Amino acid sequence: MSVYGVDRSRRVIEFLYKVAGLGTGTLSRLKNGDVLSVVGPLGQGFRLQDSWRSILLLARGVGLATLAPLAEECFAKGIRTTAILSARSPDLIMSRERLEAVGARVFCVSDAEKSSDTEHLEHLMDSLFKADRPDAMFTCGSQRLLLLMKRLSTDWGIPAQVALEEQMACGLGMCFCCVKPFAALDGQVTYRRVCTEGPVFDLREVI
Ligand SMILES: Cc1cc2nc3c(=O)[nH]c(=O)nc-3n(C[C@H](O)[C@H](O)[C@H](O)COP(=O)(O)OP(=O)(O)OC[C@H]3O[C@@H](n4cnc5c(N)ncnc54)[C@H](O)[C@@H]3O)c2cc1C
Ligand code: FES
Repeated sequence: MSVYGVDRSRRVIEFLYKVAGLGTGTLSRLKNGDVLSVVGPLGQGFRLQDSWRSILLLARGVGLATLAPLAEECFAKGIRTTAILSARSPDLIMSRERLEAVGARVFCVSDAEKSSDTEHLEHLMDSLFKADRPDAMFTCGSQRLLLLMKRLSTDWGIPAQVALEEQMACGLGMCFCCVKPFAALDGQVTYRRVCTEGPVFDLREVI
């Protein structure tokens, strides 16, 4: 699960999660004062370059839990954020206010409004790039959006990173249940653990 927010002064860590099954269902029933053991932070997060002045985020569903803190980090570094948020319906779009609070320009699309298909998103992103080409792009939460961003990243020559979601057992690099093939930048196929070498990868390497 991603760290959604950290407030060092109040010693608070936030998580934003969807109740999906036993683990998250149990989490949702915790009460004030209950004790929870947490192992983390684990893996490799997003990388920002000092020279970047603007970025674009493309997130769907709980992928927002992963990308919203990045907008806050960008704000702190003086990097402008444009965010495209996708969900099944408008009421399921989360974090809009949180992103706008750090100055992000936010576009919301949904299946219910028939605005979340890749054709519409490609049109939107093309027009955004023509007006203000971002220095980098980031995505999480949808295979369909990953493929769209990968294609646009190549077409426009804009570097992109993705946070992959993968079934994980140990999360620590020991069980190898999260191994996936990647296309290394020298053209070779390599096998990596999403939990340890990721979950964030250069989108060019994702097969
Ligand atoms: C890198 C990454 C980031 C993610 N970030 C988010 C996010 O921020 N928000 C989000 O909603 N989803 C996120 N997901 C997806 C999320 O992890 C899964 O949707 C979720 O784990 C599935 O929920 P579940 O209830 O079916 O979990 P389960 O598969 O039931 O449980 C998850 C884990 O918790 C353990 N567990 C279950 N019950 C208990 C218990 N009582 N005590 C202790 N351990 C228990 C299980 O053994 C298992 O290891 C992320 C996934 C990845 C890989
Ligand atoms: S989850 Fe065990 S190695 Fe990745």
